[in-house]
Amino acid sequence: MKITMVGTGYVGLVSGACLAEVGNDVLCLDVDLEKVRILEAGDIPIFEPGLQDMVQRNVAAGRLHFTTDVERAVHHGTIQFIAVGTPPGEDGSADMRYVLAAARNIGRFMTDYKVVVDKSTVPVGTADGVQAAIADELQQRGVRTPYAVVSNPEFLKEGAAVEDFMRPDRIIIGASDEQAILLMRALYAPFQRNRERLIVTDARSAELSKYAANAMLATRISFMNELANLAETLGADIEMVRQGIGADPRIGYHFLYPGCGYGGSCFPKDVKALIKTATSEAGLDLKVLSAVEAANQAQKHVLGRKIRQRLGDDLTGRHFAVWGLAFKPNTDDMREAPSLELIADLLAAGATLTAYDPAAVHEARRLLGEDPRIRYAQSPNAALQDADALVIVTEWKEFRSPDFDLIRSRLKQPLIVDGRNLYDPALVRGQGFDYLAIGR
Ligand SMILES: NC(=O)c1ccc[n+]([C@@H]2O[C@H](COP(=O)([O-])OP(=O)(O)OC[C@H]3O[C@@H](n4cnc5c(N)ncnc54)[C@H](O)[C@@H]3O)[C@@H](O)[C@H]2O)c1
Repeated sequence: MKITMVGTGYVGLVSGACLAEVGNDVLCLDVDLEKVRILEAGDIPIFEPGLQDMVQRNVAAGRLHFTTDVERAVHHGTIQFIAVGTPPGEDGSADMRYVLAAARNIGRFMTDYKVVVDKSTVPVGTADGVQAAIADELQQRGVRTPYAVVSNPEFLKEGAAVEDFMRPDRIIIGASDEQAILLMRALYAPFQRNRERLIVTDARSAELSKYAANAMLATRISFMNELANLAETLGADIEMVRQGIGADPRIGYHFLYPGCGYGGSCFPKDVKALIKTATSEAGLDLKVLSAVEAANQAQKHVLGRKIRQRLGDDLTGRHFAVWGLAFKPNTDDMREAPSLELIADLLAAGATLTAYDPAAVHEARRLLGEDPRIRYAQSPNAALQDADALVIVTEWKEFRSPDFDLIRSRLKQPLIVDGRNLYDPALVRGQGFDYLAIGR
């Protein structure tokens, strides 16, 4: 099939590459000239396991192309995916500017039947908005070209995006046009060969499903973070509690890890957008989600608070080793990352730091600028030199089994503040460390 992917970010590039991988002819459009230049040169602008090889393989096979030419992109695909960003606006609602601009471009140039597929995470009712934007453009041109709008939210996880796209748990298709549904079934058939994973709904239910999924996951995290804070003061171990409740199949073990708050490009913005939709569209106050959001904001400061409790409010002259900057492992994405709040807290209290991250240093430099108080190390161990404490923010695999003797010899004092509960407290304390974890 001929497919156009509008937007080559985490979702668009992964989706485009995976659709090319199964034999489709995919053209990816982006307004960012620099991104397209990098992609045309055979590189990829983001870090995502397995993606670079897949992109290169499909470019070489002639199935994956990149462009900044809107007209060419609109003419290319019968299926036009919209996978552009929907960042939070000032009031927390999703900013629909990019989605609607992409829709208008399609209406401006289309000359034959198109299925326009919303892959971006968009508020309920957006499919109607996309439909109207295209209709308006067609009307201005005085033509009546047929088209259908489909809502197809994406559930991939950064860090495992290629695997998630190739082996989806479910594929939600929100549509009413029979021809479009048939095309979507054919498009996704290669990704669900052992059993049917496609759920056809109306567009509004599809749109709400995406927000509901992220809101549920965020709720589990904030719930566990609050319980962890309680466990600490009651002398319980949240890890034991996690295992105790996870064993109940109604609860399950997934997404029950307490930590230093959730970040990323999705949970924070999607929780805020859903709260905003509920108040503005329905006059409903989503009390649970407002609490989830507030608890998460507070949790992002938990590491800074623990450090100040141990070393005092004034951290002038103190230096810290920070392991992990990305909002989670296996990505370079730092949008709303807890590391940003920790770093702000440390700097505000007068401290300096040396950070290490296997993938996100270039993002950190972009977001934090060149600041003499922040240095970057080439390895986890290099970051430790003369630090007053090691602070762990992201659970990269390479941090799981470190050389504790070496850590102790490099730190000025044996203090580890672990925002991801990577170690057994008895073991680490047995090695002479002061070990501050979450809820343990
Ligand atoms: N990142 C994730 O893990 C994830 C997972 C599921 C869903 N989503 C949703 O998917 C959407 C995209 O997220 P992302 O992380 O890929 O965003 P991103 O910011 O990484 O990428 C968006 C891309 O769209 C491009 N763009 C903007 N306007 C354009 C236009 N008119 N024409 C062509 N290109 C345009 C931008 O230049 C950018 O490259 C969002 O709605 C997000 O909520 C993201």
